[in-house]
Amino acid sequence: MTVTELRVTTSPYLSGNFAPVREEVSVDDLPVTGAIPEELEGRLLRIGPNPVVDPDPVTYHWFTGSGMVHGLWLRGGKAVTYRNRYVRSDTVVDALGGDATPGPRHGMGDNTANTNVIAHAGSTYAIVEAGGLPMQLTDELDTVARSDFGGTLPGSFTAHPKRDPLTGELHAVVYYWEWDYIQYVVVGVDGRVRRSVNVPTPKSPMVHDCSITETRVVLLDLPVTFNLKMAMTGRGLPYRWDPEYGARVGLLTREADADSTVWCQLDDPCYVYHPLNSYDDGDRVIMDVAVHPKMFASDLNGPNEGPPVFERWTVDPTTRTVGRAVISDRPQEFPRLDERLVGRKHRYGYTVAEGLQSPGGLLKHDLVAGTMEVHNVGGGRSSQEGVFIPKHADAAEDEGWVMAYVHDPERNAADVVIIDAQDFTAPPVATIHLPVRVPFGFHGNWIPA
Ligand SMILES: [Fe+2]
Repeated sequence: MTVTELRVTTSPYLSGNFAPVREEVSVDDLPVTGAIPEELEGRLLRIGPNPVVDPDPVTYHWFTGSGMVHGLWLRGGKAVTYRNRYVRSDTVVDALGGDATPGPRHGMGDNTANTNVIAHAGSTYAIVEAGGLPMQLTDELDTVARSDFGGTLPGSFTAHPKRDPLTGELHAVVYYWEWDYIQYVVVGVDGRVRRSVNVPTPKSPMVHDCSITETRVVLLDLPVTFNLKMAMTGRGLPYRWDPEYGARVGLLTREADADSTVWCQLDDPCYVYHPLNSYDDGDRVIMDVAVHPKMFASDLNGPNEGPPVFERWTVDPTTRTVGRAVISDRPQEFPRLDERLVGRKHRYGYTVAEGLQSPGGLLKHDLVAGTMEVHNVGGGRSSQEGVFIPKHADAAEDEGWVMAYVHDPERNAADVVIIDAQDFTAPPVATIHLPVRVPFGFHGNWIPA
């Protein structure tokens, strides 16, 4: 073989537990170690990329694979059913057959939805950023239709809407490569967009997430921007590190016009996928974030530019600056909190240790005491994002369960662990053994029955 015949035959984003599973299964009465709390009645959903056809490993980007949604149903202390289903994008329908997915379209993509799965206004949606519309699913995770929220969504949507716990409305910041603005969208409890605000930006930045306080939406305008040259070469994700762009955080009063946005500058460029939460502190906003030193500078197939650390940002609209303080320099990502406190002052946060590439155990931060506890999921095992579920409506902030899908390489399959958040370092109160792998993916939620 000559050197010119060598080609890349695999990608880290297609290997090990990043590799897709190809079978859609429904399995009842799953084996359990320990005891599932009886008050947990509902579905633990999560989603991630799961290419339905083998992609070119050279150009494949982890963020672009066909979506597969996973669900575990709990009822009466039993693990009733596990089910996984492809989200029926054009590519999935072409590969697997069946009826074309109905519904409106936005943009040029095949409407892959692979990044988060939520319930809102009585429907389940698989959602994604950068152009694709939400995919409405049945409770059993079969695809119903692409949705623009009854014709009310002006364009794109996001994988990270924030639900205001007081109103139940979804607050989202969305982007699309053709736009010279980012768009703040509010989806009412009726499932229809009631407000959208276009906030101009110098280029078209990649805005994965946002944050809200009781009064404001927090906009992340960071230096990963649309790259036409990459788009022309057909790379999976046409966004690149663009440090000259600068880095800033915008504060927009929720019911105000775009031109009232106050932009606050960061001294050094960096990238953030996920804030844990933010809240008003007088005029200032406190926001806890997982911070990457850069993004898509050298690895154009996934988020791999050095370890993400956990920081507290103080966004000051008077000085128009963003102060940064490291909470923990241990690599970590996928921050989650008790979502009854979205936009309000929080004390606790939960993250996945070691980050996106090689996830490990789970971490619990006490941001008042300044401490961090580790839940060890076992040697060689890897936890995905942890979801907090309060024990009851009036439960204290950490009085509840953290649930997560964990990859077990010995069984080459997934467990779901249920951890008592107030006894975080103890073994799980229950471990549910799934019969199949759940590939490393992105996000999910507990949907109570
Ligand atoms: Fe995300």
